Amino acid sequence: MARLKLAVLISGTGTNLQALIDACREPDFPAEIALVISSRPGVPGLERAGGAGLATAVIDHKAFKDRAAFDAALDRRLRDSGAGLVCLAGFMRLLTEGFAQSWRDRLVNIHPSLLPAFQGRHAHERALSAGVRFTGCTVHFVRPEMDQGPIIVQAAVPVHVDDTVETLRERVLSAEHRCYPLAVKLIAEGRVRVVNEIALIAGADTPRAAILNPRDSRGR
Ligand code: GRF
Repeated sequence: MARLKLAVLISGTGTNLQALIDACREPDFPAEIALVISSRPGVPGLERAGGAGLATAVIDHKAFKDRAAFDAALDRRLRDSGAGLVCLAGFMRLLTEGFAQSWRDRLVNIHPSLLPAFQGRHAHERALSAGVRFTGCTVHFVRPEMDQGPIIVQAAVPVHVDDTVETLRERVLSAEHRCYPLAVKLIAEGRVRVVNEIALIAGADTPRAAILNPRDSRGR
């Protein structure tokens, strides 16, 4: 079966890109990366892509007069690449409504919280201030409104009483690195369909047991 062609959009470190690169190296993984696009030049994610022998492009948002012009350039490059699925992986630009509509259900994002909680920036800071016992990450189809859209995969991550933003970010990132390849695999295998704005997954395994985290105060 032909592998689904991915375009991965980054703006920075690219650890999620790396997780997708690693997954695509597996011979039976049903997707391959056709192109990596960065909205910023010189970011570590571009080095990862180059090191893996992938085609890369920089579409520097600063070179465009507005968002629509940037999105038009992005759209052209994506269409040329033959990508069937676009994966936002730490891509720091808000996309226009027209772009989100024209890639509807072929455009996915990863967000470092259990959406719809903690949408937007500083998700970990806000999870810590709220005292939640779990946070996590979400892979979802993109809609024009930020951090909205049908949820494909989530992972729950416990919050520890002595967590800092950094320790929590690391724990969530390692969950992200499992969730993104899984979501891409499910889509590439044709097991995901969106009905009434809910993503339905054919043949997914779900643990039945609840995980409890009262969170010990450790002498506080
Ligand atoms: C991740 O936490 C992702 O959820 C968010 O941006 C971060 C990107 O990290 N959208 P990386 O560049 O993949 O390491």
